[in-house]
Amino acid sequence: MPATVVVGTQWGDEGKGRVIDNLAEKSRMVVRFQGGNNAGHTIVTEEGEFKFHLVPSGILYPQVTAVIGNGVVVDPRVLCEEIDSLKARGYSCENLRLSGNAHLIMPYHILLDAAIETTLGRRKIGTTKRGIGPCYTDKAARIGIRVQDLLDKKILRQKLDTAIGLKNDLLEKVYNSPGVDPFEVMEQYARFADELSPYIADTSLLIDKALKRGEQVLFEGAQGTLLDIDHGTYPFVTSSNPIAGAACVGAGVGPTRIEEVIGVCKAYTTRVGEGPFPTELSGELGDHFVKTGVEYGTTTGRRRRCGWLDLVILKYAVRLSGITGLAITKLDVLSGLDQLNVCSMYEYEHDGAHENYIDFPPHQSIFYHCQPVYQNLPGWKEDITGARKLADLPQEARDYLDLIAEEAGVPVKIVSVGPGRDQIVEV
Ligand code: IMP
Repeated sequence: MPATVVVGTQWGDEGKGRVIDNLAEKSRMVVRFQGGNNAGHTIVTEEGEFKFHLVPSGILYPQVTAVIGNGVVVDPRVLCEEIDSLKARGYSCENLRLSGNAHLIMPYHILLDAAIETTLGRRKIGTTKRGIGPCYTDKAARIGIRVQDLLDKKILRQKLDTAIGLKNDLLEKVYNSPGVDPFEVMEQYARFADELSPYIADTSLLIDKALKRGEQVLFEGAQGTLLDIDHGTYPFVTSSNPIAGAACVGAGVGPTRIEEVIGVCKAYTTRVGEGPFPTELSGELGDHFVKTGVEYGTTTGRRRRCGWLDLVILKYAVRLSGITGLAITKLDVLSGLDQLNVCSMYEYEHDGAHENYIDFPPHQSIFYHCQPVYQNLPGWKEDITGARKLADLPQEARDYLDLIAEEAGVPVKIVSVGPGRDQIVEV
């Protein structure tokens, strides 16, 4: 299938990186289309662990052109660091391409992200404080600075002067915090310009050419469906659209070119940051998931909130992204539990009225007060980390996967049973 989008079906951290890594082996191009270095993908190869925040995971394969599309917000400092560290480990970044239309995260975006969170106090979003929201804000307000501005230092200086004037006013007068030094920023960004200019390209055209040659192109989503700014748990969301449709806008391809959408779903649920989470577990069981699943953020190191699998959410993700197949990750983390709970419906009580939701509730205040209704399934005791085909899995694990596929209405295509590259069951 030439064009495949990979998206997260939950609140991010589903393990998209390892699924992309698996699919990238047979691909010629991997394209990021939204988000920025708020994302974090960990890939474990024979050469050890790789953590990516901006560079598409496919860079590890020599045949892959790794593309950062126009919909991504790029912190050039982070990108330069990732390029340098890859080079230091012997990976050439010759096949990296960066859209000239992508927006740049500036130092004042990072300061504003922190200042806004502090001002919100108890009502904070729990952002990654990487400047993502303020950068997308400037993009929409048409005062953003784009990658292509790095190619013309005169234009860069003019745009910086305007933007820094506005932002320093905001930082100093509204948020009572220090602004940035325009000369320092100009100097710093001129250095990034020199480092990044070899990678800047018309990435929409490159993707079009690859698709016309019949090559496999993967579109790598970041974050997850419920962090989508339109369809997620607003305001506790990120500032972009992690659903599959955004691949078209954020990479510059038409919707008729996309042929497959893989939804990545962790075998249980996790979330970082604030906001509602109906199947959240506290106490021992929550701790079990954190410990066994090593549930700490790749980007911020924060402990993830953990809970049972939520099929209401999964069905919502399938609907929003037109998912054609599922990748279930971290199935091994469920091993050893006597009983597994899976949420298949919500109950909502309000003013004496009782409602059941088998589909995702249309309003946040309903979602906030929903109680999960669980189906119980027997667990399994076996270590499944060595499973490579369905028949290697215990019957209970196969029943768990069958239930997911049946409720979601799409087949399970990939199952991961450990962090290693080979710990995959292809269905
Ligand atoms: P922001 O994207 O940094 O503005 O953060 C907004 C919300 O999205 C916060 O709750 C973050 O924790 C969450 N978030 C952003 N990126 C990721 C991710 O890659 N995985 C999980 N949560 C994320």
